[in-house]
Amino acid sequence: MKEKRTPMTMLTAYDYPSALACSSNPLIDITLVGDSLAQVCLGYNSTTELSLSEMIHHARAVARGTTHPFIVADMPFGSYQISIEDTARNAVKLIQEGRVEGLKLEGGSEISDTVRKLSGLGIPVMAHVGLLPQRHVAMSGYRVQGKDVDSARRIINDALALEEAGAFSIVLEAIPKELAAYVTQRLRIPTIGIGAGSQTDGQVLVWDDMMGTWAGHKAKFVRRFGDLKTERDSAIQKYAEAVKLRTFPDDSESYTMDEMAWEEVSR
Ligand code: KIV
Ligand code: NA
Repeated sequence: MKEKRTPMTMLTAYDYPSALACSSNPLIDITLVGDSLAQVCLGYNSTTELSLSEMIHHARAVARGTTHPFIVADMPFGSYQISIEDTARNAVKLIQEGRVEGLKLEGGSEISDTVRKLSGLGIPVMAHVGLLPQRHVAMSGYRVQGKDVDSARRIINDALALEEAGAFSIVLEAIPKELAAYVTQRLRIPTIGIGAGSQTDGQVLVWDDMMGTWAGHKAKFVRRFGDLKTERDSAIQKYAEAVKLRTFPDDSESYTMDEMAWEEVSR
């Protein structure tokens, strides 16, 4: 697809119904069980609070709803940092128990040995550079990366090192579009952008951002392609009102009994 310059679509899913929705559209190429799961589904403050077992629980549900798109899951924070043995064990566990096909890891050249190890085991590894949500505290918040010369050079070198280590693709998050276009050109592996302009080999968005299931803070790079929050809230309102007014259920939504039988019962 990169060679043909066909843009790749990746969308997150966190459970069976969202996975089915991704799977039923042939234009979606990759389903990502992102660790954004932590915030958008589980109500945690950041992705660092998500455990490996929580990720596995959700990844399995996504796998049950997936036929065609390639499924990638994020390795949760802490599951690929302790030692190479621990990382390999966790990676195998996430593949086997979570039933996903590839794993995504955040970090630059400092994790290239980890990427090499997992790739060597035959696990497709998706790298992730630029804004790294798992390091939001160390990076002083969720900020665009690679705007100055040193930071841009570091991202280029990181991407090259990760490709060399065996990554099959790489997410570029929140970096200037010029830098993303350049990295895309320099790499043989496909780049998937989020907040990285239109010249990456693919795009990814978080399900809830894309659907508009919430009305809170919207990052610059998010486009709400739907307005599910309005639709959902109006359905809740109509349902609750209908119950309060006893207009729901009506006769067509109720069961009835044979009149003679009822007479006998109620006599
Ligand atoms: O967790 C996630 O959803 C992600 C994508 C935004 C790339 O990592
Ligand atoms: Na993520």
